[in-house]
Amino acid sequence: MERYFPMRKLPARAGYKQGDVFVLVGELFGRGYANGIVDEARRAGMTILGTTVGRRDSDGTLRPLNAEELAEAEANLGGKIINIPLEAGFDMEPAADGQSFADILKGVKPDAWEGFVLDQGRLDEVRAKGEARFRGNMEKVVAELKTMIPQGASVLFSHAMAGGIPRARLFMPLLNKVFKGSGDKYLSSELFWNSGLGQLCSASFFDVSADTFKYLIEATAPLRQSNNVRYTAYGYHGCEVLISGRYVWQSYTPYMQGWAKIRLEDHAIAARSEGIIATVYNCPEIQTNSSALFMGVELSLYPLLNSLVDEGGGPVAREFITECESLLNDGVTIADLLAAAERYLAAPLLKQFDKLAEWPHHSTKEQMELMLTASAELIAMNKSPKEIVCAPLSRAVFSTTGYLMFHDSWAPEKPVAWLNHDIIARQLNS
Ligand SMILES: NC(=O)c1ccc[n+]([C@@H]2O[C@H](COP(=O)([O-])OP(=O)(O)OC[C@H]3O[C@@H](n4cnc5c(N)ncnc54)[C@H](O)[C@@H]3O)[C@@H](O)[C@H]2O)c1
Repeated sequence: MERYFPMRKLPARAGYKQGDVFVLVGELFGRGYANGIVDEARRAGMTILGTTVGRRDSDGTLRPLNAEELAEAEANLGGKIINIPLEAGFDMEPAADGQSFADILKGVKPDAWEGFVLDQGRLDEVRAKGEARFRGNMEKVVAELKTMIPQGASVLFSHAMAGGIPRARLFMPLLNKVFKGSGDKYLSSELFWNSGLGQLCSASFFDVSADTFKYLIEATAPLRQSNNVRYTAYGYHGCEVLISGRYVWQSYTPYMQGWAKIRLEDHAIAARSEGIIATVYNCPEIQTNSSALFMGVELSLYPLLNSLVDEGGGPVAREFITECESLLNDGVTIADLLAAAERYLAAPLLKQFDKLAEWPHHSTKEQMELMLTASAELIAMNKSPKEIVCAPLSRAVFSTTGYLMFHDSWAPEKPVAWLNHDIIARQLNS
């Protein structure tokens, strides 16, 4: 595919320095991807600023953080948070009749989900309202930023926003079937995606995971007149990992956010064509709050242990592998773990999903069965299902991606880049 650009060379060090400003667009969670880039920006001496999505009161009103929430969020970030709610999406936005999709979905019974018909007129109406709310709040954030950013300072915006599952109870049992269901509990992602509820999710994913990046770039145009401004965003579009001794592109299926992630890339490409330095970095699969629903997403993380050895295998790699080994059941070795991961990743059944140009793919019953069984088998190799090898692996990946994105963002070659296991392992070993 034309846009496929795997980063193969470690980036030169970025020129950001003390007095320059880093702005996180989205909130920071303990195991979230953004931790890596925030740490790197702090190491460079930049001023760290954050944003919030705000909170919803019990009557549904969107509000800024209260004093206690703000103090906690600022302590967690280690920087000031601009307290204007940047929640994106439209699920709680009431139409002219006072009803939001969240209200309407309360009346849909779980077993009647296939009968839900999406009212396009209502969708268009609340989508426009959601967009106006987000853009309006983003403009207020930019007005605050203008007072905080020194003239001439370099500014780096890190977009971390993704999500958009409409807030309605109805979705949980359905999505559990789509992402965790096998046998009788299997629900085809394609069947779900083509339903009225699937179409609603699709619109929401586009608005939250993709278009917020475009709105950010547009709203910050005035800053670009006085400052050097750069943008990064976290993408996902599969990842190359070591399978049977060579790097092979693979992806998690069914990744229904995939179409929104392609649109996110399109926004970076469009911005770059106008001379704006915006880059989407497609990152490996890791375990975070947002990926917890996708059982099996962690399977492609295990071979990073092989890459660490392949890409240098120095003392850092050895220490890291020892740490991982200590989490395994007595008598289970890293080699056993890797052999089990390889059995899954190299399975002939996955061949049908191996074309990047056809991504994202829908699930099949056999593939879900294979993935969920392999996921459970590997998790059972750990002493505790609460602290599995994927936890240190995920931390290593978010730190390293943070480093790579931060430094590459200074002078990126392309608007879309893939950070595969080879470059992650090389950086970890360096
Ligand atoms: N976890 C993975 O395997 C993986 C892989 C590749 C890329 N990513 C991407 O990394 C980024 C960070 O995700 P993460 O996995 O670290 O999870 P996370 O849960 O830590 O972060 C999710 C982010 O989305 C924001 N968000 C959620 N709902 C929102 C809404 N309605 N409006 C505005 N913002 C909203 C949150 O505030 C948070 O900043 C996302 O873009 C994600 O798609 C994740």
